[in-house]
Amino acid sequence: MAEQKLIKKYAVFGNPIEHSLSPTIHEYFARKLDINLSYERILCDEDKFEFKLKKFFDSGGLGCNVTLPFKREAFLFAEEKSDVAKVTGAVNTISKKNDVFFGDNTDGAGFIRDLKENIKFDITDKRVLILGAGGASMGIIPNIFLEKPKILRIFNRTLDNAKILVERFSSIGNINYVDNSDLTENQFDLVINATSQGMNQTSFDLPRGIFNDNSIFYDLSYGKASTNVKNWAAENNIQFFDGLGMLIEQAADSFLIWEGVRPNITEELKNILIKEL
Ligand code: ATR
Repeated sequence: MAEQKLIKKYAVFGNPIEHSLSPTIHEYFARKLDINLSYERILCDEDKFEFKLKKFFDSGGLGCNVTLPFKREAFLFAEEKSDVAKVTGAVNTISKKNDVFFGDNTDGAGFIRDLKENIKFDITDKRVLILGAGGASMGIIPNIFLEKPKILRIFNRTLDNAKILVERFSSIGNINYVDNSDLTENQFDLVINATSQGMNQTSFDLPRGIFNDNSIFYDLSYGKASTNVKNWAAENNIQFFDGLGMLIEQAADSFLIWEGVRPNITEELKNILIKEL
């Protein structure tokens, strides 16, 4: 009789979750590595996250991803955390090791890897601006500092939120906020959109003068959420990248945590995902 391979159970938790590309990515990785894996989307109400998470692991789940709006709850749930998770205060990857829930955050590493390996942009000594001061910004700041940028500035619609973010990270690097008037007086080598503006499909604008000829503009969003920003960059002749590369890289890092092997990222996978967007 043919030997039956055990199915390894993984999942992603969030709300909304129906359009998550994570199942496609992890099933692709597993296929390429000949690992028998299931990866489901689990929709949670705000008050059911922990309950559903425990149920998943009790029923044999080996690991999961956590997306909006539960990354903070996942941090609080995890009994042990990686250093990056501790600094960001957010967890996107949970694994269970020796009956202990371990929380990690692969978002920042995924972002840096996409920049360095795929886009070939090195942050070291560069002037970096982040638009937005929410969870997405927090998730990438520690990893940006590991690359030693010259400066990191935060611009946000609500200045007070930018100030809170700066205070939180000022002990680990050169970070400050800029207001509307400071913004136009500066130029940046890398501008990162970490706002959730695109989710609401609102129109997008920035002073063109903050970009120089070699600057790049990276939007952490992708798909429809990135359309307005992408169009704005094209109209203003600025090199633009969306967050699809980061999404794949952070997934590969999660896979590495669970399975001990980092899958290869291929153009084929990117093309599959673009069709699903
Ligand atoms: P996330 O976890 O995705 O970062 P968040 O914590 O809600 O989401 O943060 C969203 C960020 O996008 C915030 O910086 C928010 O600005 P405020 O601090 O002023 O709320 C920013 N944002 C959301 N909608 C925006 C819009 N229409 N224009 C500009 N910034 C916006």
